[in-house]
Amino acid sequence: MPVAKDQMAIFRFRCFCFTILLLSTISSISFLFWYQCSGPCNSSETQMPWQKQSQAINLLSHASAWNHLSFSAQPPPKLLKVALFVKKWPHRSHAGGLERHALTLHLALARRGHELHVFTASPTAANNASFPRYPMTNLHFHLSQPTSAGYLDQAIVWKQLQLQNSTSRPFDVIHTESVGLLHTRARNLTNLAVTWHGIAYETVHTDIIQELLRSPEEPQSYALAERVMKVVDEVRFFQNYAHHVATSDHAGDVLRRIYMIPVERVHVILNGVDEEIFKPDSVKGMEFKRKFGVPGRKTLVLGMAGRLVKDKGHPLMFEALKQLIAENGAFRNDVILLVAGDGPWAARYKDLGAGSIIVLGPLDHVQLASFYNAIDIFVNPTLRAQGLDHTLLEAMLSGKPVMATRVASITGSVIVGGEMGYTFSPTVASLKKALSKVWEDGREVLEKKGEACRQRGLQLFTATKMTAAYERLFLCISTAGNRDEQDLCQYRG
Ligand SMILES: *[C@@H]1O[C@H](CO)[C@@H](O)[C@H](O)[C@H]1NC(C)=O
Ligand SMILES: *[C@@H]1O[C@H](CO)[C@@H](O)[C@H](O)[C@H]1NC(C)=O
Ligand SMILES: *[C@@H]1O[C@H](CO)[C@@H](O)[C@H](O)[C@H]1NC(C)=O
Repeated sequence: MPVAKDQMAIFRFRCFCFTILLLSTISSISFLFWYQCSGPCNSSETQMPWQKQSQAINLLSHASAWNHLSFSAQPPPKLLKVALFVKKWPHRSHAGGLERHALTLHLALARRGHELHVFTASPTAANNASFPRYPMTNLHFHLSQPTSAGYLDQAIVWKQLQLQNSTSRPFDVIHTESVGLLHTRARNLTNLAVTWHGIAYETVHTDIIQELLRSPEEPQSYALAERVMKVVDEVRFFQNYAHHVATSDHAGDVLRRIYMIPVERVHVILNGVDEEIFKPDSVKGMEFKRKFGVPGRKTLVLGMAGRLVKDKGHPLMFEALKQLIAENGAFRNDVILLVAGDGPWAARYKDLGAGSIIVLGPLDHVQLASFYNAIDIFVNPTLRAQGLDHTLLEAMLSGKPVMATRVASITGSVIVGGEMGYTFSPTVASLKKALSKVWEDGREVLEKKGEACRQRGLQLFTATKMTAAYERLFLCISTAGNRDEQDLCQYRG
């Protein structure tokens, strides 16, 4: 029957079309997978294009860094009352790591209108006069004498917290920078987040490096043997904190995998630095070079900044440069190193000779911003695997390429590919090889990498980005148990 035959034909044709459609869908999906992973296939960057506008993400169980998401710059949906516990509140510009993070983040949150209460150590008599004052009425300090070991006195700060919590509006969220608030006090608080700036498991890598670099005359450190028990100890007590913020993708992975903290309680928020201060400005860079007498014939200006101590890898850098200068006349003519900061290695660097190095001394933030603009590449040979170094982020936002030791926080979150710079092992040979490569690549290549760094920096490492992510986390965990507000834990791109 012709009618049935026709229907058969139509049916076959439809099947054929459907198969073609199915096959092409499958192949385009696999192409997209292939395409995504043909670049640096980092876990934080494997989001499929169609996920961008698709259904909401549950932020609490989101595994990659929140910095990859974009949060609204509009005023927050509600103003929070936030408690911060931090061992020491820094003086404006002289602060590294944890204290810098505390300062940048919480001043920014206060500027967003939140009510901030900082529980911290009172200044010592010697620097009493210099405890900073801020013009904001929503930023409050609760000072106390630290214990002899330098920790916050837990009984006192707890009492201060209770008093503030019960006599006026209760706190929406409690944030502690590392063990500012000890786990014994933190254990029953569900609206609490702790930010780790270095955990013992990461420090094992540091200990291994230190042991490998130890000269035969130096006594063996006990740190290495003791560190593993410290890790076990941390695995036990970290559980007591409700929410954990890791400052690198690697630390997030370790907290979930080694420390066995449930995924919905581990959140990765990478550090951010002030993008208003650290930005490209070639005029400032040129002025800086003139002011400090960098000779015009130098075609490669290396820069280092921070505390000039052994832990930051200065013995390695010193030896690598010394050897390159002695072995290679062209390298010696072309290259100069600018070193900002102070510490025991400031004096030793001068032995490299005036033509190859300028020791700048400590710089404040404004000078430091000019310093980044004066250099061609920023070098960070740190031996410390824990935490996430701010200097690399500052250099990147200034549009400069970076080179650093191959530790997991850096290779996993910062220098994730050759387009941003160079990584090396913490040995003189490996550092020499990387420095030679930088010199061979030359300024043009470095400028291109610097542009890639600036783009990544703007995308991930601004103080604004970090603040927005923490604000969202705090909004989310402050609503725990409140169904009407749970939406703040959902993210729609
Ligand atoms: C620090 O200065 C304040 C007033 O600014 C004063 O009340 C306090 O006693 C001083 N503390 C010390 C330890 O000198
Ligand atoms: C603060 O007060 C609220 C309301 O009374 C209470 O639920 C909360 O547990 C208190 N927080 C702390 C840290 O004591
Ligand atoms: C936390 O809760 C447990 C059990 O409810 C209780 O025994 C303990 O004393 C509480 N700890 C603190 C610091 O409040």
